[in-house]
Amino acid sequence: MATFRENIVIMPQTVACSNRDLDLKHLWHGNLQHRGLELRPPLEVTSADGCYVVDSEGRRYLDGMAGLFCVNVGYGRREIVDAVATQMSQLAYYPLTQSHGPAAQLAGRLAELLPPGLGRVFFTNSGSEAVETAFKMARQCARQMHPGENRYKIVARHRGYHGFTMGALSATGQSVRRAAFEPLVPGFLHVPPPDPYRCSFCCKQPGCSLVCADEIERVIRMEGPETVAAVIAEPVIGGGGVFPAPDGYLERLRAICDRYGVLLILDEVITGFGRTGKLFGFEHSGIRPDILTFAKGLTSAYLPLGATVASEQVFAAFQEESDSSKFVQVSTFGGHPSSCAAALANIEILTRERLWENSATLGAYLLEQLRGIRSPWIGEVRGRGLLIGMELVSDENKTPLPEPRMVQLLGEFREAGLLVGRNVGSAPGYCNVLILSPPLILSREHADTIVAIATQALGRR
Ligand SMILES: Cc1ncc(COP(=O)(O)O)c(C=O)c1O
Repeated sequence: MATFRENIVIMPQTVACSNRDLDLKHLWHGNLQHRGLELRPPLEVTSADGCYVVDSEGRRYLDGMAGLFCVNVGYGRREIVDAVATQMSQLAYYPLTQSHGPAAQLAGRLAELLPPGLGRVFFTNSGSEAVETAFKMARQCARQMHPGENRYKIVARHRGYHGFTMGALSATGQSVRRAAFEPLVPGFLHVPPPDPYRCSFCCKQPGCSLVCADEIERVIRMEGPETVAAVIAEPVIGGGGVFPAPDGYLERLRAICDRYGVLLILDEVITGFGRTGKLFGFEHSGIRPDILTFAKGLTSAYLPLGATVASEQVFAAFQEESDSSKFVQVSTFGGHPSSCAAALANIEILTRERLWENSATLGAYLLEQLRGIRSPWIGEVRGRGLLIGMELVSDENKTPLPEPRMVQLLGEFREAGLLVGRNVGSAPGYCNVLILSPPLILSREHADTIVAIATQALGRR
């Protein structure tokens, strides 16, 4: 009888089966119910250029999500491909237990782009790992900065998303994503996010009262500041339904953190590298964080790479006399030379073309046009730069549009040639936000196409 390995030679499965068959038989997709998947198989994308992707049947779609909030400079940038090929030929790999040029150069480039004093870079492979790293740094730093205290708690917000690994998931304020894996890591606390449309503190009055920010102070005081290491926030909550920090919110967070000796971590995995109309999301405010996390737009997803950037003050806490003050963490692939080369080429494009400016201009235009659609279902259109959410409701009481209708709408957009996202699994009963996060090279014509398709799908008929 042939062993399973002999079959590989006799019958190469990959030749006999289509990609779709192999996918349905062997691939395990996250966030997808596989039962019945044959009837609604995932889109098989085979090529892409600029703002468009092409599927295996040759259909072209305007990618309103830049993949997954990440292909910021658009698809098909030869410059990045060449930089990676050159790097791979010269040095395919070396770990950062020692050093190599691409990582050093990228760390230096990031430090140039960030405010002075915020330039100590630890490389990872993904956003989740960048966030894990931030939590570990914050806990160790807090203990070393405040000897005798036990600062380990992290305050995060409901609706925020910080990743799929256990620590990052513990910070994620989306119960639907967490439930199957609980209990998670102890020490993570959640407060309400800024959500002027539904805010239980101030949605009935004009303007934001920032009580949601003050909730963070209340939690720190109630828990005891000597137990709290850090606060984490996205400058604009992205996948959780697009909630931009209101004016003054990040400043309030900074002041609260300073008052209690708590570190401020800003998760810029989505908002970094031009997405919100500035190079970094925190630039919309007058503050800077103690720790920053990046991924996605860092390489525009040409290769995987994440980064955790600490302030010099945080870094200094790891340089005490004793060896145990060092940060003990090793990543085999984090800061891979090819990924760093991709990031350097990507940042060169992003800064040469000043794509955050296009993000600001086209984002404002798109927001205005989408707000102008007369529709019984559009409750609120909100966003910053090219990160836009459309909260859909079924009546004047803001009842969220039901799940089946949301799914149907996504299908209608796709049929019309536009790929949009949605806040899947982020809040029970409130997965009713359509999300747009296209490549930052979006043109006015692309924006008009998006508005025309949205009007067709959502407009009053
Ligand atoms: C704000 C934020 N943080 C962290 C992550 C996790 O990143 P990754 O999927 O690269 O692990 C994401 C992913 O969408 C994110 O949006």
